[in-house]
Amino acid sequence: MKNLTFENGDRMPIIGLGTWKSEPGQVKQAVYWAIESGYRHLDCAAVYQNEKEVGEGIAQAINEGLVEREELFVTSKLWNNSHKYEDVKPALEKTLSDLGLDYVDLYLIHWPISFKRGIGFAKTRDEFYTYLDVPLTQTWEGMQHLKSLGLAKHIGVSNFNQAKLREVMNIGGQKPEMNQVEMHPYLPQKALVQFCRENGILMTAYSPLGSPDSRNESHKNDPVLLKDPVIELIAKKHGASIGQVLIAWSVARDIAVIPKSTNQGRIKENLAAAKLKLDQNDLMELDDIGVDFRFINGKFFTGPESPYKLSDLFG
Ligand code: A2P
Repeated sequence: MKNLTFENGDRMPIIGLGTWKSEPGQVKQAVYWAIESGYRHLDCAAVYQNEKEVGEGIAQAINEGLVEREELFVTSKLWNNSHKYEDVKPALEKTLSDLGLDYVDLYLIHWPISFKRGIGFAKTRDEFYTYLDVPLTQTWEGMQHLKSLGLAKHIGVSNFNQAKLREVMNIGGQKPEMNQVEMHPYLPQKALVQFCRENGILMTAYSPLGSPDSRNESHKNDPVLLKDPVIELIAKKHGASIGQVLIAWSVARDIAVIPKSTNQGRIKENLAAAKLKLDQNDLMELDDIGVDFRFINGKFFTGPESPYKLSDLFG
């Protein structure tokens, strides 16, 4: 399995298990199956509300001797309601207590958007902080403090565009080591990938399969990545599944990828994509797929009452 390498030499396995939308009743088993089948990278977040069960899966695997803590690469994310300097450390401490760990390998600012304390999802103007209330400097200094304490081995961001990345880089000290964003052949993020490469920022692709389990009534006309005819032909050619082609596409670009599954067969299938090598022809066809679509569109943070605009996220 390929790894991504941080500047200090630490390595992150390129394929990880995603846990967003994994039900608390299923995710312990999913994490255990994943570790049993060879995953060493788990992607978590406080807002997924399942870190306790993820932690139980990790603990079971460690207790049964399948793996040691040091062999695992665990990521978590700071939720939008804990961006104030003094709230950053308690937020990670809660995550560590839920996960049953002493440190995370990577801790990310989940979104460049701030909610007031205790607010899960802000809707009214009163529930948001603005940039002026909590400038990113405050949050990033909190993140750097966590790294200096060893509670997070590496720190980074998620859902940051070039302008926001520059803002963090201008703060000084540790630059963001990772930017995790939505990425798949319908959203290849070419300019952002180039910017991150030029600045030594590693990347992770979320919703690599097009997030089919977040489809609801308002998404019923969205394109379906897992049914794309171009990708289907490539999959047939290799005797692989469409999901595996999507994962291998990210691996070919040296971008970490975190497909979510709670199904044992698909957990194994997704890891086996590490062995699928796409050729230049496949990559050209995927490059030229002709659909441009963002499944996670950020509209839930940028409604009429929000001080933030879509351009703060994706502009
Ligand atoms: P399940 O958990 O039942 O396997 P994303 O990572 O883009 O958010 O996609 C996750 C969704 O894709 C989940 O609904 C998951 O369902 C499904 N899924 C995961 N792996 C595969 C696969 N190899 N083929 C098809 N669907 C998959």
